[in-house]
This record gives sequence, C-alpha cells and structure tokens, in this order.
Amino acid sequence: MTDVTEIALGPLASLTEGAPTRINITGRPPVCAYLVDGQVYVTDNACTHGDASLGDEGELDGFTIVCLYHDGAFDIRTGEVLNPPCNRPLRTYPVTVRDGQVWIAISAAGED
Ligand code: FES
Repeated sequence: MTDVTEIALGPLASLTEGAPTRINITGRPPVCAYLVDGQVYVTDNACTHGDASLGDEGELDGFTIVCLYHDGAFDIRTGEVLNPPCNRPLRTYPVTVRDGQVWIAISAAGED
C-alpha cells in the first residue's frame, strides 16, 4: 500500500491566473503552483535542466511553463518536456482544493 501525505499549499486566492508561484514547503523542496482557467496545477519548482526556479524564472504560456534560463519547457499538466535542452520530465502533483485551500498529495515513496 502506498502511503500518501497531503500538504497544504495555502489559499487559492493567493494564486494569480497565469502567474507561476513558488511555494516553499517545510522539509522538502519547493513546488510551483499555476492557476489556468480557474484550475490549479502543481509541479516541482526546480527546472530539471539546471538550477532555475520556475516560480521565479519561469514564464507561463497556456499550459506550458518556459524556463527562461535556456528556454526549456514543460507541460504543467503532465510534466512532459516540450522543448530542449530539458530532457527529463517535471514532477507533477495531484491537486485538491477544499474550502478555498490548495492541497497536494505526495506519496511516501516519492512517486505519485
Ligand atoms: S535551467 Fe531550465 S532550461 Fe536550463
């Protein structure tokens, strides 16, 4: 059985449509949250190519987060690489919104 932990990321109202937002989490690397058409998506915040923070150095275009360091890009829904030099997918997280709060689910094994 996979042990899944839910982590609160904060209020939905703190997210801005189309603006990637880095969210720090105690005890683990930050994630990046996106609000697109009222729907929340969450990925790892670190680009898989280098040391860029997607919440700070990323630009969202629809469902595509572009890392401005080297123009690598990912689909925020799946983590799929859309543009090199990135060649490893971005981790994505299941998202739930309850009572105006955003939660993600993280498995203990590190896989979702
Ligand atoms: S660090 Fe993100 S594309 Fe290079």
